[in-house]
Amino acid sequence: MPATVVVGTQWGDEGKAKVIDLLATRADMVVRFQGGHNAGHTVVVGDQTFAFRLIPAGALAGTKTVIGNGVVLDCETLLREIDMLTSRGFDVSRLKISGNAHLIMPWHPILDTLAEQRRGDAALGTTKNGIGPAYVDKVAREGLRVQDLLAPERFVQRLHTVLADKNELLTKIYGVEALDEAAITAQYLDDFAPRLAKYIDDTVGIVNDAIEAGEDVLFEGAQATFLDIDHGTYPFVTSSNPVAGTASAGSGVGPRHLTRIIGIAKAYVTRVGAGPFPTELHDDIGQGIRDRGHEYGTNSKRPRRCGWFDGVMMRQALRLNTLTELAVTKIDILDPLPTIKVCIGYDIDGERTTYLPGDLDKFARAIPVYEEHQGWLTDLSGARTLADLPPLARQYLDRLGELSGVPVTIIGVGPGRDQVIEIPA
Ligand code: GDP
Ligand code: IMO
Ligand code: MG
Repeated sequence: MPATVVVGTQWGDEGKAKVIDLLATRADMVVRFQGGHNAGHTVVVGDQTFAFRLIPAGALAGTKTVIGNGVVLDCETLLREIDMLTSRGFDVSRLKISGNAHLIMPWHPILDTLAEQRRGDAALGTTKNGIGPAYVDKVAREGLRVQDLLAPERFVQRLHTVLADKNELLTKIYGVEALDEAAITAQYLDDFAPRLAKYIDDTVGIVNDAIEAGEDVLFEGAQATFLDIDHGTYPFVTSSNPVAGTASAGSGVGPRHLTRIIGIAKAYVTRVGAGPFPTELHDDIGQGIRDRGHEYGTNSKRPRRCGWFDGVMMRQALRLNTLTELAVTKIDILDPLPTIKVCIGYDIDGERTTYLPGDLDKFARAIPVYEEHQGWLTDLSGARTLADLPPLARQYLDRLGELSGVPVTIIGVGPGRDQVIEIPA
């Protein structure tokens, strides 16, 4: 069985969770491998909506779920999610959390928020969940890990050392109150640890055992290719590597197992937070897409910026992830548009290119070169097979596939679980 990675090819919120939910019905295990509760992954089942931030969305299909070592874990959010799923009748007893995952500590969201305030007009628009500061501590080798919850002495000793530094930073640089060591110890060791202990395990062994046993394992990417700390629009990015390759390092599975890599793209593009966005629409068309597509953050409710599909970014996403397939979601949102544009190149300083410039300022100056497609002006929400799609919608999808260089195998025509067209690869 191939291990399959589901990865966002734009700036997030492409509908990854919906695709995961679909594929999970045939999978044995779903693994999160990077990011944290900055993710908002929505699955709509009948009249019920589930918003996941940490637990893999495969939980709804009843698969085994794993939070891998590459994730930064907010215990409170996770416990709330466990309670939410349990109270709605789902079994989370097979959830496993890597002991090597790093903990989000109370100073992380505080520092995230303070850093954003200090940036003023140059704020990045982070989710203020402490994701960046948690990865900073991890890389600085000052992080506390999930396994420390099970080793109280180590937890206390590490907290003592790290918190002394953090309190200096909080009080002397930022001029805010120091955090209370005893209160943090009590919260993590007396409250979180006993409730999470049964889920903490050697997930490297668990995921590799599953793959070796021929089980079907899905890797659920969070964020997306252009929010990648290395390959995205730095500094307007997240602090992890959402590209598909991280499914390997972020879970402890060798890269040769990752054979099927499904890129998820909206039929248009959205972005939350600051940063360049060449195809952004500032007009009624953009507002119409926002309204029809409910393009407001799953957690933050922030309005998402909307724009046309960008074939240049897509081609770069193909390379960065070695996509084998493309899932196009939310095509139904374009139903009422008489004309739909697709960006096929950029004009930068008078020169035409079909490649993404490495330099952010150049990217910010990119003027999109568009081709125009005639809209289908038909309600696609009831389509379940390719044959149900009008020729103009098929032409549009064929063009997205052509620009991406891989076949379109999944098409989303609505938020509902059944509102999907699957095309055998
Ligand atoms: P993720 O972060 O990539 O999992 O995506 P989000 O859940 O943040 O955002 C995608 C939103 O679009 C959610 O509200 C989904 O319910 C919804 N959605 C997903 N696929 C489709 C689709 O094909 N059509 C429509 N209309 N909505 C969709
Ligand atoms: P999913 O998994 C969309 C964005 C934030 C901000 C930048 C940095 O639902 O697709 P961070 O808090 O990570 O330091 O913020 O990244 N961002 C997302 N945008 N979808 C997400 O996740 C995102 N996770 C982070 O808006 O611009
Ligand atoms: Mg999301």
